[in-house]
Amino acid sequence: MRFPKGYVWGAATSAYQIEGAWNVDGKGPSIWDTFSQAGLGHIADGSTGDVAADHYHRWEGDFDLLKTLGVGAYRFSLSWPRIQPTGAGAVNQKGLDFYKQLLDGLAERDIRPAVTLFHWDLPQALQDAGGWPSRDTANRFADYADIVFGAFGDIDAEWLTLNEPKTLAFNGYWYGSHAPGIMDPNAAAAAVHHQLLAHGLTVQAFGAHNVKGRIGPVLNLTPVTPTDPAAKDQTENVDAVQNRLFLDPVLKGSYPTNAIGTENGQLPADPDQFAALVRDGDLATISSPIGMLGVNYYGVAGVDLNGTMVKIHKTSSATWQQIWAPGLYTLLTRIKRDYKKVPIIITENGIPDDPMQNGLNDSARIDYLRSHFQQAARAIEAGVPLEGHYVWALIDNFEWAEGYTERFGLVNVNFDTQKRSPKKSFDWYRGVIAKNAVAP
Ligand code: NOJ
Repeated sequence: MRFPKGYVWGAATSAYQIEGAWNVDGKGPSIWDTFSQAGLGHIADGSTGDVAADHYHRWEGDFDLLKTLGVGAYRFSLSWPRIQPTGAGAVNQKGLDFYKQLLDGLAERDIRPAVTLFHWDLPQALQDAGGWPSRDTANRFADYADIVFGAFGDIDAEWLTLNEPKTLAFNGYWYGSHAPGIMDPNAAAAAVHHQLLAHGLTVQAFGAHNVKGRIGPVLNLTPVTPTDPAAKDQTENVDAVQNRLFLDPVLKGSYPTNAIGTENGQLPADPDQFAALVRDGDLATISSPIGMLGVNYYGVAGVDLNGTMVKIHKTSSATWQQIWAPGLYTLLTRIKRDYKKVPIIITENGIPDDPMQNGLNDSARIDYLRSHFQQAARAIEAGVPLEGHYVWALIDNFEWAEGYTERFGLVNVNFDTQKRSPKKSFDWYRGVIAKNAVAP
């Protein structure tokens, strides 16, 4: 199955998950530094991202791996507290210098950057002032975006505003499994709105700075199906929470009416409290025209009569991940059907290593990626404006609450020695990229 000429193959990472150097060269602490360093059992193996894959000092070698792989683009994130240590006011020039090096290093290797402005590492000082449930955080974000566009706006890139606002809002403020570890559905709902507002303000700043390239959000979306014909309403509620709560405001300028409330499958926050957060003009800001939509796709879920997401397919070694490649086709064609036309990039797609297979012989990853590339090709065939596909992740990294127990990399990292060893999937992916085609 061939891909169109110019289809962009990529690999992705994020700052906190690979950089380390958590307090080096003026970087301020983020909520993930605080959360992992607290040692309260938040992280499965008790680890932190203090050193992670030490990419801060080893980026050149990692970029050489990208070159060997042959990707056209590399997605990485900027650490907000590295650039602006307290999330407000003074800029840390050394932080900007570090990212300038990365951008130059990519240009030298002829690899197009896809720059995520925010991948969950909120400056701790902003969390202390209320975090994403506080509207002011959106304004602080817009100021930070101004700094970034002022410094790098002449670089042609895909600019990605926020990564997976759903995961940060739900895991961070509702379930408490991610930083900052809060368990309050109203805080989670507010974190959704304020992140979306930050997204919209950033799209406007992008236009005002006349930045090169295009801009869009990165949304993680999950097709859901009822496990019982009677679970139709519950499934529509879960779909509203998982997908429409993010797609509708960005692409239609409205919130679904059934996402928040006390029915089975809804986000159990107070709908009136949520409505009061949404000020006049917010939805117009949030729906400011984007140049592309980033979609992170990992799998699907069933929904039962209680509105609970349940298992209908086999999972990867990450139990939240139900592997179902045709779900990618379903999702992409649904976006085409239900929303206005916008170029789509799959900004993440991947699985952690299967513990039954030995480290470098990751045939489960190859099977996963092959089947998903095939579904992407089918979607293009069906007229979906899909323009690229990034594998998560280039290298093994700090997998948030799972620490180093889940390894998503195409390249193995020995975290004791920092030695990099490409896995079998790395060579396989290199072949796909070289041929711009995948076996049917
Ligand atoms: C989504 C997140 O953006 C990324 O940080 C994470 O490592 C992967 N999914 C895998 O869970």
